[in-house]
Formats: sequence, C-alpha cells, structure tokens
Amino acid sequence: MVQKKTVRDIDVNKKRVLVRVDFNVPMDSRGTITDDLRIRAVLPTINYLISRQARIILCSHLGRPKGKVVEELRLAPVAKRLSEIMNKKVEALKDCIGPQVDDAVAKLSYGEILLLENLRFYPQEEANDPDFARKLSRLADVYVNDAFGTCHRTHASVVGIPRYLPAVSGLLLEKELNTLTRLMTNPDRPFAAVIGGAKVATKLPLLKNILPKVDFLLIGGGMIATFLESQGYRVGTSTVDSARLEEVARFIQNAKSIGARLLIPHDLVIAPKLEANSSTRIVPIDRVPDDWVIVDIGTETIESFAKELDKCKTVFWNGPLGVFEIPQFAEGTRSMARTLANLKAITVIGGGSTAEAVVEMGLKDRMTYISTGGGASIEMLQGNVLPGVAALQDSSEEVKNNWLTKNLAMPEGG
Ligand code: 3PG
Repeated sequence: MVQKKTVRDIDVNKKRVLVRVDFNVPMDSRGTITDDLRIRAVLPTINYLISRQARIILCSHLGRPKGKVVEELRLAPVAKRLSEIMNKKVEALKDCIGPQVDDAVAKLSYGEILLLENLRFYPQEEANDPDFARKLSRLADVYVNDAFGTCHRTHASVVGIPRYLPAVSGLLLEKELNTLTRLMTNPDRPFAAVIGGAKVATKLPLLKNILPKVDFLLIGGGMIATFLESQGYRVGTSTVDSARLEEVARFIQNAKSIGARLLIPHDLVIAPKLEANSSTRIVPIDRVPDDWVIVDIGTETIESFAKELDKCKTVFWNGPLGVFEIPQFAEGTRSMARTLANLKAITVIGGGSTAEAVVEMGLKDRMTYISTGGGASIEMLQGNVLPGVAALQDSSEEVKNNWLTKNLAMPEGG
C-alpha cells in the first residue's frame, strides 16, 4: 500500500485544520452515547493539533438522515462527550456551512475546537457535490482525514475536500492502515481469521481474499446456513442465499484443494422461531428439523474453535457468530470474545457489531487492537483501495519534493 502523508508531515502550526472524523457512535433511545470508542480514538490527532496551536474544526456524519435535518441525529451530544473526555470546551455548531459557521471559525482561537453539524443533513454530502466540498474546504487551510470508518465512502467530506486543500491522514487513520496492512502482509503465524455475520454476499469477497493468507479460517454466523446447504445439509427455516450456493460450494472446494484449514461449525443452536424467549436445542449439523432455524454455533464448535485459536499468534475477528442481539442466541459470539481476550496472541477486532460486542462485554482492553471501521475494514481486507485514503497525498510526494529541493535547487536569483 502506498504510504500517505500524515498530520506530522505537514505544517499545521496555527493553521485552520478541518478534521474529518467518524463520530457515528451508537446511541440509545434517549440519545445517550453507549460506546465512545470512536470519539476517544481521535484524541491523539486532536492533542497533536492542540500542541501545534492549530484551530481545530471537526466534521462528521451521524446515522443516515438522508439529506434532511433529523433532530435525534444532531452532533451536540457528541461534542458534549468529547468536551467531558478532554476537559476542554468543544463548541457544537448548528450547521456545517453558511455565514454562522464562517463567523464561528473566524472567532476560533489557537488550540480551540469546533464541531460542525452532521454533514449528512445535506444531500450534497453523500452525492459528493463539488460545490459543497468547496464550501467546506474554504473553512480551513489543511484537511486531515481521521475517519477510517468512513474511508470506503465516496462522499464530499471524504474524497471531495482533498481536491481543494492539502490533504493528509490523521494519526488514527495511520494506525488503522498500518495494523490492517501488517495483518494482510506480514502477520505473526499461525494466523487465524474468524469471520461471522449474516450476509454471504458481503462476506464472500473477504473470505476469498483472506483464505490464501491465513493458516486457519473459522466461519460462523447467519451465513453458515448457505455454507451448510451448499454441502447438501438441510437448514430448516434459516435464510439461505440461493443465488450464491454454487459460489460457496466452489469456495469450499478451493479451500480443500489448496489445503487450507477451513473450519465450519459441526453443531448448532437452533430454535423454533427467531424470537427472544424461544426455546433452544443444540444439534449436530445434519439434524436441523425442517421447521427450526439456526441461531448460533453449538458448544462443541465453540470448544473446537477455541482449541485451534490457542495455537495462533495472530487472530482477526469480524462478525457475530450467532444472532447476537437476542441474549439466548449470543453465547457463540460472547464465548469467542472471551476466548480472544484470554489468548497470548495479537488479537485484532474488525469494527461494527463485533467491536460493540467486545466493548459491551468490558473486554476492550484485553484485545490488541479494535478497529473503528466496520465496512471500511472489510473493504480493506477484501484487498480494495479505500477511496478516502487514495484521495490523500502520498508521502512519497514529500520525499520526492525534498529531493528536488535539495538536488535541483534553483540557482541564486534564478
Ligand atoms: C460506519 O459506521 O460504518 C461508518 O460510520 C459509515 O457509516 P455508513 O455505513 O452509514 O456510511
């Protein structure tokens, strides 16, 4: 991967710096932030900018308001939480462009922080409207992208602004890219990936890309029904992606032919209905009744997965192994979190619901690294270049420029 310039490689001293962050944090029905991992994760960049007396303008999206103002998706509670964490004033604005924003930015002193209102209140953000990007860019002298979780989106604040301002990566983005690149290029071995989740369509490209790179590939989650049906098992009323049965069968065949250690569950938790308080049973994979649904991996599978992982020096995990939202179907996911927490290995957790599960169980500090990007980390591990990263300046440009300045300096008076 091409190295990108970071905030350390550019002059931000006393400059107005627009920082794209991903403050898309989970909130409960009363608007209380239930997990502030993404807020805490950008503190290194913010503190760096404060130390350089930059004037800091943060911008983010929250949820999917679809181009309209949605009161519950205002960023004021996020500004409040950031202010509490930093013990410093963080002003939340009611808009992200316009005269009031211009005024507030003009009044911003060195080392002070502003948070613009939810960018997605404007449809132009997701449409990557150049005029919207230009308006945002006029607020600042430098653009810093520290929103790893949003780098797979071609939105105005992600790929548009870098066309108008010097654009570099923040320290969180740098760390995310380095961690995930190391995982895919030079992991300590044995290296295992545990991939769960419901949708085969979203996970199959990741599975295909990661298969030749890992020593063990453990699969669970809702997508397991498609895996089992592709091998001729009956999966009751579980959702099967019929359009991908052949592709999954080919994937399993390919794994066998390259001698990859692909592990799929051999027992399952099943229920008559996908409902809380449903009764459950544990059955081998060839005993799923026609009117029951698969809801989790079984206890023997949990044990055998744990045994394989115990041999590993690096483990990457993305995706719940059962229907985690319903407590009695969550044991597979919860036990995987506990297993990883106890391993003497590098443990990297993909973002999204996997990260939320780990945080909710209080195991965050027992993992080596929790990525702040769900979709973004999957895209990256699929081998795709993230548009938000591609839009930033290559660090080689600076090396090149330094070299040119040193070696091809204009003659005096030239
Ligand atoms: C995420 O939570 O994955 C990011 O914030 C991106 O959000 P989005 O899926 O709504 O674009």
